Amino acid sequence: MGKLDGKVAVITGAASGMGRASAIRFAKEGAAVVVTDLNEDGGASTVAECKSGGGEAVFQRTDVSSEADIKGAVARAVKEYGRLDIMFNNAGLGGAMGPIENVTSDNWDRTMAILLRAVFLGIKYSVPEMRKVGGGSIISTSSVGGLRGSGYLAAYCAAKAAVINLTQSVAIELGHDHIRVNCICPGGVNTPLIYAGSKGGYEASEKNMARMQPIPRAGRPEDIANMALFLASDEAEWITGTAMIVDGGMNTGNARFRMSNMGSAGFSGPSYQRGS
Ligand SMILES: NC(=O)c1ccc[n+]([C@@H]2O[C@H](COP(=O)([O-])OP(=O)(O)OC[C@H]3O[C@@H](n4cnc5c(N)ncnc54)[C@H](O)[C@@H]3O)[C@@H](O)[C@H]2O)c1
Repeated sequence: MGKLDGKVAVITGAASGMGRASAIRFAKEGAAVVVTDLNEDGGASTVAECKSGGGEAVFQRTDVSSEADIKGAVARAVKEYGRLDIMFNNAGLGGAMGPIENVTSDNWDRTMAILLRAVFLGIKYSVPEMRKVGGGSIISTSSVGGLRGSGYLAAYCAAKAAVINLTQSVAIELGHDHIRVNCICPGGVNTPLIYAGSKGGYEASEKNMARMQPIPRAGRPEDIANMALFLASDEAEWITGTAMIVDGGMNTGNARFRMSNMGSAGFSGPSYQRGS
């Protein structure tokens, strides 16, 4: 028995990283998956991987900044598999970067279209289908960047923060319909989003990211897929409106600063007694 037997899922940004890992995991647990992305080769590879594990999946080319494409992805699920139970709004990119005074309004708008408006549209078009089958699970990928700011990444962080509030607001609206709405806040996960094009590639990222949180390793796409699976499954039937943090402890504080670096005393007394 799979945890998602009989369910149908749409996952955006499923050609790579967390979306890909989630598609593979969902398919293994019995869901039929509509794999969507701009990247057709990557999408085909995800579908092949889902099928090689005995699962069911199809690819639908989707640009999440297009309302028609998102509508089309939902329609494909219904056409192909007859229903929609799970919508995972996950596609993303870094978007507008750099000093705030240099961020163009065009780049700001493009970032919002992909990271925020697409989540709204994914919710909007999946709700009517979920109502028809008596409920469902909507999951969106926010970020620890949606919980705290990050310099030179204001548009990204603002969009991800808005995803958390959108999740809460819509969860209030849809609880009576048994449609649960949650989001995931990943910390540093070593996906192509992080290492593609960066100096040193995957290996260098692994090392750098291992230092960013109390648990000393980079996040893996599968860490997020595990949470997405839980939220998609009936095991989470009383969970809605949450922002699940999956970050190796990053959001607890500054993992690089340890008081033990300041000496081995068991009690830190008044500063005037500690000498200069
Ligand atoms: N990697 C991290 O450390 C991290 C941390 C927090 C949040 N996130 C978020 O996680 C999500 C997944 O990112 P990832 O790390 O797996 O990156 P990734 O680059 O491996 O995967 C993202 C996918 O989204 C697709 N995509 C981008 N723009 C699209 C568009 N307009 N239409 C359709 N598909 C599009 C890409 O082609 C890619 O396949 C994103 O929303 C990202 O913001 C990532």
